[in-house]
Amino acid sequence: MSAFRKLYLKKFLYKIPDYKPEKLIIPAQVIDVVSAWKGLELIIPEILQKFHIGNETCIEFGVEFGYSVVIFSNYFKEVIGIDTFEGDIHTDHRGNHFENTKTSLAKFENIRLVKSTFQDWIKEDDRMYDFAHVDIVHTYEDTFECGLWAVKHTKCAIFHDTESFMEVRKAVIDIARHTGKQLYNYPFQNGLGIIVE
Ligand SMILES: C[S@@+](CC[C@H](N)C(=O)[O-])C[C@H]1O[C@@H](n2cnc3c(N)ncnc32)[C@H](O)[C@@H]1O
Repeated sequence: MSAFRKLYLKKFLYKIPDYKPEKLIIPAQVIDVVSAWKGLELIIPEILQKFHIGNETCIEFGVEFGYSVVIFSNYFKEVIGIDTFEGDIHTDHRGNHFENTKTSLAKFENIRLVKSTFQDWIKEDDRMYDFAHVDIVHTYEDTFECGLWAVKHTKCAIFHDTESFMEVRKAVIDIARHTGKQLYNYPFQNGLGIIVE
């Protein structure tokens, strides 16, 4: 898709109200690993405060080397991270890195990593969480399926890559319509969609 067409679609067809943070807050704990998520940690505390999100449980789909899951471990008592830990068609790294990632995150005692597809996990889990993050393979179908589950099982779910992948943006818009929830978009660091009650 040409850059012009992408901009046109974003501006007119797939427009989402901007999320405009008033304050940027640096979390106490971060981990130095490769990630396209860097920078988004600054807006998380305000999102949690503004939308009155509890601090008990968070679930993340798409952990990779753990950058975002460590950010959430600052704000929730229990954080579950689901990933195949094998990469996907959109990641640079492919191949099993579950044990290495588990070792590098071992000091964050409130994080539990599970090696699973999101498809297998959501078949078995009917628990409610305070918060969810979806950052898996960036196809429409996978983002819609995982994201719909996340939105139905939380008060607030966020989605990475709403600017860099039109498929993610479309899926997020459709999930918000389908569930009747509010949708915002933070248009930096590849975009963060926010769906909230
Ligand atoms: C973009 S990376 C996640 C980046 C991470 N959130 C960060 O902070 O840097 C996407 C991850 O989703 C995982 N993934 C892709 N499809 C998946 C699926 N169906 N189930 C579980 N994990 C999946 C990949 O293994 C990869 O580690």
